Amino acid sequence: MANQDPIKVGVLFSNTGTTSAVERSQLAGTLFAIEEINAAGGIDGREIQPVHRDPHCNPREFRILAEELVQQEKVNVIFGCYMSSTRKAVIPVVEKWQRLLMYPTLYEGFEFSRNVIYTGAAPNQNSSLLAAYMTRHFGARVYLVGSDYIYPYESNRIMSDFILERPGGSKLAERYVGLNASAQEFRKIAEDIRDKQPDFVFSTVVGSGTQLLYRAYAEAGIDPSSCPIASLTTSEAEVAEMGAELAAGHITAAPYFQSLDSPVNRDVLMRFRDRFGYETPPNMCWEAAYFQVFLFARAMAQSGSDEIDQLLPHLLGSEFEAPQGKVRVDESNHHTRLYPRIGRVDSRGQFEIIAESTRGVDADPYLVHHEVDDSSDYGSLLGEIIG
Ligand code: ACM
Repeated sequence: MANQDPIKVGVLFSNTGTTSAVERSQLAGTLFAIEEINAAGGIDGREIQPVHRDPHCNPREFRILAEELVQQEKVNVIFGCYMSSTRKAVIPVVEKWQRLLMYPTLYEGFEFSRNVIYTGAAPNQNSSLLAAYMTRHFGARVYLVGSDYIYPYESNRIMSDFILERPGGSKLAERYVGLNASAQEFRKIAEDIRDKQPDFVFSTVVGSGTQLLYRAYAEAGIDPSSCPIASLTTSEAEVAEMGAELAAGHITAAPYFQSLDSPVNRDVLMRFRDRFGYETPPNMCWEAAYFQVFLFARAMAQSGSDEIDQLLPHLLGSEFEAPQGKVRVDESNHHTRLYPRIGRVDSRGQFEIIAESTRGVDADPYLVHHEVDDSSDYGSLLGEIIG
């Protein structure tokens, strides 16, 4: 008789802690995909059984719980991690035990592990576009503000390079605040921004600090229509936390926005709301969390095993018709072809898409094609998409 045993998979997203709003949406996206796959018969009749642990946005807990999922629950695949510090904590575990981490979050790039599939944006799929769009429409004098950990430091380094390559490009300041910084700290930064008068602000602040930054910005009286905050992480989840009024007019680069008007997206949103209601706001990290479970399930249906050596040949090169468009996992770098877009928050807290790629863009995690000048291949793509 065919194997009927459930397939246990590890799920590591936080229900509490500074980035829990977006991690809860990643958890919902993961569980939603698992439910849909199970309702359609599972993987060759075998049900996917999620084993969720809450690591409280803490890298040490991520490492301990990943170890526990592998050792005690015997999972071969883990869906998880938002902050890069937590991914960096889990990678040694999956590398030591030859397990697979599927990571549905934009990050700073400059990484490869055979034991990771990266389904969020690398810098060439969000930052380069954002730099080109912002410098064209607002100017190249930028103020950088971020949370104090690896993703903001590295992303600001990359954004600085893009900005300093532009005519008149300059960095007016680069400030960091703790992950649990106070409203007062953000007020000081907003006042400094008002005094320095940049063309735009690039924020790599994550989690609950995001709403404090946008609130302080509004209270300092800075007008987002002339000097917006541009971000890679302020998604519908963070906008829902702060409210549409504070977010309106600010800009985010991402491969997916809830507002995307495509048949696949409309359908997925309808099914998600039927099952999960309106509490969880679909966003770029929710979408990656959703589609990566399908990538896994299809690869496993072909390989008959969830062990990394059997799974990888089927995952690499695989494609899926995701809400953002048809995505594809690259054979050589384990990152995913995505659809760069730029959105501006409207008065309802939704993103109006103001620029988008006409085609999928392969990840270039080491930024081999670094220039954003119009003579490069990359420049010609930008030329197509900038609205
Ligand atoms: C992140 O830390 N990769 C958002």
